Order: sequence, then C-alpha cells, then structure tokens
Amino acid sequence: MQLAQRLESIAESITLAVTARANALKKQGVDVVSFGAGEPDFDTPLPVKEAAIKALLAGKTKYEPTAGTPEARKAISEKLNRFNRLDYKPEEIIVSVGGKHSLYVSFMAVLNPGDEVIIPAPYWVSYPDMVKLAGGVPVVVNGDPANNFKISAAQLARAVTPRTKMVIINSPSNPGGHTYQPAELAALAAAVAPHKNVWVCSDEIYERLLYAGQQSCSWAALDFALWKDRTITCNCLSKTYAMTGWRIGYTAGPRALIDAMNKLQGQMTSNITSFCMPAIVEALTNPAMETEIQTMRDAFEKRGTRMWQLLNQIPGVKCNRPTGAFYAFPSIAGLLGKPLGKTGAIAKDAVEFSRLVLDEVHVALVPGNDFGCPDHVRLSFATGMENIEKGIGRLAQFCQAG
Ligand SMILES: Cc1ncc(COP(=O)(O)O)c(C=O)c1O
Repeated sequence: MQLAQRLESIAESITLAVTARANALKKQGVDVVSFGAGEPDFDTPLPVKEAAIKALLAGKTKYEPTAGTPEARKAISEKLNRFNRLDYKPEEIIVSVGGKHSLYVSFMAVLNPGDEVIIPAPYWVSYPDMVKLAGGVPVVVNGDPANNFKISAAQLARAVTPRTKMVIINSPSNPGGHTYQPAELAALAAAVAPHKNVWVCSDEIYERLLYAGQQSCSWAALDFALWKDRTITCNCLSKTYAMTGWRIGYTAGPRALIDAMNKLQGQMTSNITSFCMPAIVEALTNPAMETEIQTMRDAFEKRGTRMWQLLNQIPGVKCNRPTGAFYAFPSIAGLLGKPLGKTGAIAKDAVEFSRLVLDEVHVALVPGNDFGCPDHVRLSFATGMENIEKGIGRLAQFCQAG
C-alpha cells in the first residue's frame, strides 16, 4: 500500500507503547498507579455543561462561522484584555478544535518548507512533529536542568539563523513544570526582537496553573505594540476548566494571520461543535468560574509539592520543584546503568526504566524520550494524594531494591 511520504517524517510515540502496556495490565485486573494523565482529574464545572446542554436543546446544531460565533470571539477578546492585558479584537481571534489544532493551523499558516523553528527542550511531545508536518525544521535548544529547564537569552540568540521563522515558548511548561517569570521572558524577547521576520508562538494553555508564588505573563503583553504583529498567542479551555474532551482552543494574532488560519481551517474542519460555543462564553464570563479554577489550582499545588518532596527522597532521583502545569519531571540519570528492582535489571534510558517500573511495581510513568530528555520521566500530579503516596512509595521500593 502506498501512503504519503509525510508520514515518514513523524515518529510513532514511545509514550503510547507504555500507555498501552499499562492499560493491558489494568484490564487483567492489576492495580496500576498511573501518573500518565495529561488532564485534570476534576469534572467540567456544571454551569459550563449547562450552557452547552441548553444550546443543544435550543437547536444550536448547525454550521457556525469557521472562526467561531461573534459571542464566543467577543468573550475571548474580553478575557484576553482583562486577564492577559492584550488588546486583540474579536476578528483577531479564531476558535479551533483544541489547543493542538490551534497550534497546528497556525504552523500551517506561517511555515514554508525548510523554515527553522526553535523549540526549547524539554518540549511538549507534539511540537516537533507538527512543525515537520507543516514543512518546517525543528531546532532544539536544551534548557538547563540547573535553571529549572529554562533556556537563556544567550542560548536563544545563538540558535537564531537567517532561516529561523519561529520560536515556540511554552510557559508554564509541559513536561518541565517550569514557568518563565516576566523578566526572563523580557530577556528572551530582547534576543528575538532584532530578527524582524521571526514569529513567536506563545503556548499559554497552563497559564492558570501556577505555584510557589510564580507569575504568568503573555509574551505579547511584554510590549504589545512591538509584538502583536509577530506573536501567535495560543490557548484553550482544556486544562483551566477541566474541558480536555470538549476540544476548544483559540488563537489570537494579527488580522492577516487569523484570516489565513480561517482560510485553512475552512477547508479542514470548519467551526468547532456549534453547541460548545455558548460554553466558551459561560466559562470565560461567569465570575463563579474563578472559584472553580482556584479550587483545582490549590489541589494541584498541594499534590505537586508532596510529589516533589517524595521524589527527592529516592536516592538517584533529582526533581526540580514544579512551578506550573501539573507535571513533575525528575532526572533518573543516577539510576540508569545500575541494577534495579528485585531482578537487578538494568535500564539504559527512561523508556527501559519506565517499562521495568510498570512491570515490577505497576506504576505508569511517561518516559522523557519523547520530550527530548531520555534520562528523565514525567509524572502527572493530576491525580489524588492517595495515589501519589502509593505510587511514589512503590517507585522508591523499586529504586532501592537493586
Ligand atoms: C503544552 C501543550 N500545548 C498544547 C496542548 C494541547 O491541548 P488540547 O488538549 O487543548 O489540544 C497540550 C496538551 O496536553 C499541551 O500540554
């Protein structure tokens, strides 16, 4: 069978193999503790569900404008103004099928074959493949674990070439769990500013999940007059409102970019599900949502702090304190190449380590290989405290048994 060549440029996710194995064990009745979840373990707030149900029952089941209803775009524009200090008009906003689709359509709208895209590592697993699908060339810049995995302005300046078309900034970050502070973002911005043809794609989807007194900052808000025409601001409702399955993402940018995305999306998916549009308005305008967001954030902070403390008690494991999102991303470098577990098996990288952990103590981790860090693993703390205590306890037992 002849399939498209573009499939050859993208990798099969290693993460999926570990997830499939964890699911198979669960099916056999094994008590697996999973730290794989990339989504809140809370339910979508009731008023948001009700807004969609009401719209569905009222017959909001037909095509809508590709970029979103005027009401949804207005609610997003007002939220960006109120919360992010960004002055995007409704026509400078497009609603897409989740944050992933927002990012992908924006890459398709700006990248030409051979354009370089700077991606700080550890990176969210889909960035390099989405860049490649859009014809671009990922250029990975490694964040310094000693600086919470953040890249420096000097590193960024060195990575820019005449072929650079875009820099991706994800703060707070998946999987690093780190957050660039406004002064750090300003330093990165100073390194990119002279290169006037370079776009910055700012993936801000974890903006409300901040811990340890960190502040979030939208890239374009650093200097809106300077950055508006060169920034792609991507966000979604998935993580902040526990709405991963709804598939609601949005992009704000200069009108020409949004028009280009509208043209592309009009030939791909058209509008998102029509009765989800009023749910956007509800989530972004109902003041009661602030309490919902705070409740989830507070729970994540307690769990993340506990997970971080427990992980650092395991000899050979080193973990930075998570300051954003809901991931701990410890180094397991001190355990690789050494006998582990009851069998004394040896792991050479995070994939082998995760397989051994899953098979022996039934804890599902996500190996860092897919994120550009083969000597790290990712653990999501979007799970109950009991699971955290139980799962890390088992991990400690495994690491110390060798
Ligand atoms: C950094 C980052 N960007 C984008 C996405 C995609 O979000 P969505 O589920 O809304 O497509 C994710 C999802 O995990 C993510 O972690």
